[in-house]
Amino acid sequence: MTLRLLTGRMDIHELQKLVHKTRDPRRTQTLPKYSPAERDTLIKKHHPDYRENAYRPIKFGMNAGDLTVRELAALLEGESPVPENLDLSPAHTVDVLVVGGGGAGCAAALHAYARGAKVMLATKLRLGDSNTVMAQGGMQVAISREDSPIQHFLDTLKGGHMKNDHELLKMMVDEGPSIAKWLLELGVLFDRDADGNLHVKKGGGSSMPRLLTCSDYTGLEIMRVLKDEVLNQKIQLLEFSAAVELLSDGAGTCTGAVLRDLDNKRSLVVAAKAVILTTGGIGRLHIQGFPTSNHYGATGDGLVMAYRMGAKLLQIDTFQYHPTGAVYPEQLIGALVTEGIRSEGGHLVNAKGERFVNELDTRDVVSASIIRECEEGRGIRTMSGRVGVWLDTPLLDAEQGPGTVEKHFPAMVRQYKRFGIDIANDPVLIYPTLHYQNGGVQIDANSETGIRNLFVAGETSGGLHGRNRLMGNSLLDLMVFGRRAGTTAAARAASMPQGPMTLEHLRQFRAEARKHGVSPDVSSPMLLPAYAKQD
Ligand code: FUM
Repeated sequence: MTLRLLTGRMDIHELQKLVHKTRDPRRTQTLPKYSPAERDTLIKKHHPDYRENAYRPIKFGMNAGDLTVRELAALLEGESPVPENLDLSPAHTVDVLVVGGGGAGCAAALHAYARGAKVMLATKLRLGDSNTVMAQGGMQVAISREDSPIQHFLDTLKGGHMKNDHELLKMMVDEGPSIAKWLLELGVLFDRDADGNLHVKKGGGSSMPRLLTCSDYTGLEIMRVLKDEVLNQKIQLLEFSAAVELLSDGAGTCTGAVLRDLDNKRSLVVAAKAVILTTGGIGRLHIQGFPTSNHYGATGDGLVMAYRMGAKLLQIDTFQYHPTGAVYPEQLIGALVTEGIRSEGGHLVNAKGERFVNELDTRDVVSASIIRECEEGRGIRTMSGRVGVWLDTPLLDAEQGPGTVEKHFPAMVRQYKRFGIDIANDPVLIYPTLHYQNGGVQIDANSETGIRNLFVAGETSGGLHGRNRLMGNSLLDLMVFGRRAGTTAAARAASMPQGPMTLEHLRQFRAEARKHGVSPDVSSPMLLPAYAKQD
């Protein structure tokens, strides 16, 4: 297959030659070292979080006046598809309703079930369709002798610009080892060294190797086991059933949810003593026009439902643009090219054949640097007008011996091979891709929101990662807080009766929307991206 990629009149093979030719001088090239003030300036100048016109204040609700991206603000203020006179007779009555079928949802459901709760897991698409299953690079856990939860805490705090919630962060790093043990016992096949010990790799912004990995398909392997376990335990499962509204007792306690059956479009009421939202992130909102590494259903549904119910959101002005999203071929645009490649020494290279950033700096710094190179004319332009820089993947084979790329990144090799690209021989073109929602719904140590009996876990929650998440902390976050949510929700459910179910919060929300002149044109939650085939 001929790659049709041009800058001016040069084709890709000419351009790639420069990457091969400059490998030796790049090995000794001095990289920019930024002072804290310089890092700040770089980020403010080039990171998409600082494009003022992408943001606007939220008009009403718990975060009235706070800035967020326009796409999200519109959904938070959006109109519910549920009429206030909906018949609220429940089709199902459970102790704990988990909404979302990714890692956090499965962990929450399993832990609630293990504590004796009657659990239902409802998910918009299929069980496992989630960002978790797409996670490549690993899960951070401080298990090596040289490492400690304190070191993990400090790295994460530094990466998050010191804006992380300390209590949540302490829990995450302290509980990492017990999570790894749980997953191993369930059957997750983490990579091991020749001596049989767990192998750990280093991620960007981390002072120590602490990533537990399953090659470059860590999330897939974890979800394989979690899905099996949900099915083995016969936890009640509703697939293609999207939550569209929560229910309350009329006095601020969550008592269930309204689901929409995506096959027959009917509404389904579930009475639940506790609800756990684990709906993931917002990549499919394509904020600021960015492509995304996220799965098809990542449309911020949990944020919308929790906000309508009166929960507070945190740090919703900051998003993670993963430095290395595919720019070519067109079929892969936005797809993740794992940080693992840079962790193993892959260089980022501009059109002049130069490195321009420490590839293992925090993601916000690396992404801002790539955007700077492209904005200042040192990027490589594709035929369709996209711009990117090179990730020198063949360098790994050159440095560590032939077969390294194939051995360490089998999923990535196959992903590109489908389009005739051999990443062990040819560098790949990348640009930042919308990857993660740094903030989310405010939770306490038990993953409970400000609304009684409404829990949130995983990417939908906020506070833990500050203004920039470190690689591998997401998988750990969703396991730790999925477990906390499931455990607490089950205990709560055991101690109380089912409360009345009303849409009182929705009536109040609509009254607020009218007062602020918000037109009911935007329906939310979005459920599927605008380009999805609805029928
Ligand atoms: O690059 C990666 O493999 C991504 C990992 C993460 O976001 O945790």
